[in-house]
Amino acid sequence: MSEITIKRTLVKETPKLSGKKVLLKGWVETKRDHGKITFIDLRDRSGTIQCVGFKMMGDLTTESVISVFGTIKDRPEKMINKEIETGVVEMEVSEYQILNPSKELPIQVEGDAYDVKEEVRLKFRYLDLRRNRMRKNLILRSKLIQSFREYLFEKEFIEVETPLLSLATKEGARDFIVPSRFQAGKFYALPQSPQQYKQLLMTAGVENYFQVAKCIRDEDLRSDRGFEFTQLDIETSFVTQDEVMSIVEDMTKYAVKAVGGKIKDEKFPVFTYDQAIQQFGADKFDLRTEEEKTNGTLAFAWVVKFPFFKKVDKDDQAEVQDGKSGWTFTHNPFSTPLEEHLEWHLKGKNIDKIVTAQYDLVCNGYEAGGGSIRAHRPEVLRATFKIMGYSDDQINSSIGHMLEAFEVGTPPHGGIALGLDRLVMILAGETSIKEVIAFPMTSSGKTAVMDAPAQVSQAQLDELSLRVIERKK
Ligand code: AMO
Repeated sequence: MSEITIKRTLVKETPKLSGKKVLLKGWVETKRDHGKITFIDLRDRSGTIQCVGFKMMGDLTTESVISVFGTIKDRPEKMINKEIETGVVEMEVSEYQILNPSKELPIQVEGDAYDVKEEVRLKFRYLDLRRNRMRKNLILRSKLIQSFREYLFEKEFIEVETPLLSLATKEGARDFIVPSRFQAGKFYALPQSPQQYKQLLMTAGVENYFQVAKCIRDEDLRSDRGFEFTQLDIETSFVTQDEVMSIVEDMTKYAVKAVGGKIKDEKFPVFTYDQAIQQFGADKFDLRTEEEKTNGTLAFAWVVKFPFFKKVDKDDQAEVQDGKSGWTFTHNPFSTPLEEHLEWHLKGKNIDKIVTAQYDLVCNGYEAGGGSIRAHRPEVLRATFKIMGYSDDQINSSIGHMLEAFEVGTPPHGGIALGLDRLVMILAGETSIKEVIAFPMTSSGKTAVMDAPAQVSQAQLDELSLRVIERKK
């Protein structure tokens, strides 16, 4: 076969190529031997096509990678397969080549695999991702991100990356920490979000920032929570709360519709935190009717006017650390209180009654995003940490850099972060974010395919000046 000179054709193009000789490349999805004739379904990223070989292809195993050269032929009327897009044609194979034979697979790549054990699916994720459902989810995710980018670029936002190795970011979860080799005994923290850096970009005069940002939090794993997840992170200057909410609403509608999603209310209803608790018993809720639940509708709503502070949950280590006075933040310590509560805030009075300029985006029972207008004056941010019981020294060592930035011309600003994994999950009709992440962790925190966390060599530990202490049972 003179493969080098012939260009590869994609399977999806074959219905237009009846009578032509083409070269296809892909995977053997199924194989049926009928005596002297072998039928295979060949799959590439664009679809599948039936290929017919006379006295050949008997040696193929399913999921082998092959190239086939042959003629595209119309199928007789009664042989047309309406189930597949190429069902009106088939290929009569004249030559084929095995590019990589497949041995027997540890998991099947056909079917939706909802009943296959998670550990097995994730160990062989590269096979699991071959199934149609997973391929569709990956494409949906990519298209949704593309649509968000389109919208934001059009509104003159710029995409900026922020560091992964940094200081603790204070999002209320435990940190993942990374030891420094050069400075023994010191550690970086992985970002729970780009919150502080995006605010510093406002100080820098960027005005309109966004990032598709990896966030890392050591918190209990759930179907809508991972140690690692992705935010569409946004920050913008000289805006009111209503303006940010309006941009986010407009952007969300644009991107969701661009990928074929159906939205219940064109104008997202707004509930105060108190109303939500009263009406639904929670600050996230599902506004869909029974019918909308079955037809894939997305019901967005806003929740506003959250209490700024809450009493520390003593069983939560991260909260105990942050809330030294017994008070900690409910959402985001970098938010501003509402104007009418500024006085209380600065004086540390009526702490339980202070309301923050925080807004959460709820969708189909999930918290799909959260943001706020920020404190941009140093005394307001300082007061927040005072209320949480930080001493001046503790304030300076944890957020002194923000206070300094707020003294050199930081504009009023606000923003939001949408949980991309959750949004794609809802759009795909899935119930776990793992179904829309290429290589998620297992429920017990083991990485897909590669077996981390893992031990490291003594030499590595020595270099980092670390010693592992056996935990007392
Ligand atoms: P927040 O912590 O509310 O806000 O996060 C924003 C959104 O990210 C999603 N999310 C998660 N998704 C999967 N797994 C997790 N562990 C996880 N944690 C959060 C949720 C959530 O609404 N810096 C602020 C944003 C801001 O104020 O601009 C922040 O990170 O959908």
